[in-house]
Amino acid sequence: MFKEIDRVAKSEMKKLRVLVLMDRDLVPPPSMEGFSDEEISEWKTEFDVLSSLKEMGHQVVPLGVADDPGVIRKTLLDLRPHVAFNLLEEFHGVAIYDQHVVAYLELMKQPYTGCNPRGLMLAHDKGLSKKILSYHRIATPKFALFPKGKVVKPLRRYAYPLLVKSVIEDASLGISRDSLVVSGDELKRRVGYVHEELGTDALVEEYIEGRELYVGVMGNQRLQTFPVWEMLFQKLPPGVPNIATRRVKWDAEYQKELGIVTEAADNLPAGADERISKLCKRVYRVLCLSGYARMDLRMTDDGRVYVLEANPNPNLSFGEDFAESAERVGISYDKLIQRILNLGTRYQPEWH
Ligand SMILES: Nc1ncnc2c1ncn2[C@@H]1O[C@H](COP(=O)(O)OP(=O)(O)OP(=O)(O)O)[C@@H](O)[C@H]1O
Ligand SMILES: [Mg+2]
Repeated sequence: MFKEIDRVAKSEMKKLRVLVLMDRDLVPPPSMEGFSDEEISEWKTEFDVLSSLKEMGHQVVPLGVADDPGVIRKTLLDLRPHVAFNLLEEFHGVAIYDQHVVAYLELMKQPYTGCNPRGLMLAHDKGLSKKILSYHRIATPKFALFPKGKVVKPLRRYAYPLLVKSVIEDASLGISRDSLVVSGDELKRRVGYVHEELGTDALVEEYIEGRELYVGVMGNQRLQTFPVWEMLFQKLPPGVPNIATRRVKWDAEYQKELGIVTEAADNLPAGADERISKLCKRVYRVLCLSGYARMDLRMTDDGRVYVLEANPNPNLSFGEDFAESAERVGISYDKLIQRILNLGTRYQPEWH
């Protein structure tokens, strides 16, 4: 069951015309009644954001898009929205094409929420973003790239176990226990899997044993971070690594089995909160992000923190990590959505 949003009183703020861009298959029904939790989880973000915007008195128009930029153009011209709330995660079924939709919005001089096209492009390419982080001496697991179509040569001077993943996919697509490899043979097999099954280049990283941490960041110039959040595996069988695999992230039964909970990270070493907050703001800046993002980190037993990746436009569902961690510092769900709108209208793109 999902918890209920605690509404704030309708405020005096300016009411805006908001076009909410979302995947055509995720346009939610008017009510959650009669749907199973599993069905609801598909379009819960869209539902929560739409109801929050309406609740705050904005004029809200949802638009489902999939593969026709003409629909976006026509709606922008007809509706003239003050801001487009961007919930799109793909276009033509391609995860990284959201950056082009945002680029198109800029060409149309349309203010929008969330990350700008350059930030999306840098952060969605894990290889490129890790190169930038390395240049800035920001700790990220040692890595190697295996482009599609090239022979997989054995890796030297890398410490096994290694973690193999797609360089561009997200939502832990293709991440399972088999992603963790302990030999050259296993490495070759798993890189082959990424090339063939996911159809993308592969990224191989040294595996960082440690705590799984997430940090929400919001802002354009002035940045705010939310409290460090942690995914705990309370019933992890011995010998099983605490990896946030596809199943761990999306399979409710499996989550129960492993005792998965996410909550404010407890007992961090002295000064770690401050250090992690600064680190996340730096990552946000060097990757040119704007709007809001969630950083994925790992912390080793001796307190070293590694950046796994930056997720611009993270999951905005009520009750999910980003919104939960905002709530911890007094930003209710409606306030969070309103702030995201404000950041969208205030963002200064080049055309401005
Ligand atoms: N180098 C690594 N060391 C330790 N764990 C890792 C490493 N890389 C990935 N993982 C584990 O795998 C999970 C998913 O990795 P990553 O965040 O890179 O994938 P993703 O598909 O972008 O996930 P999402 O978009 O859902 O955050 C991480 O949260 C972490 O648990
Ligand atoms: Mg991640």
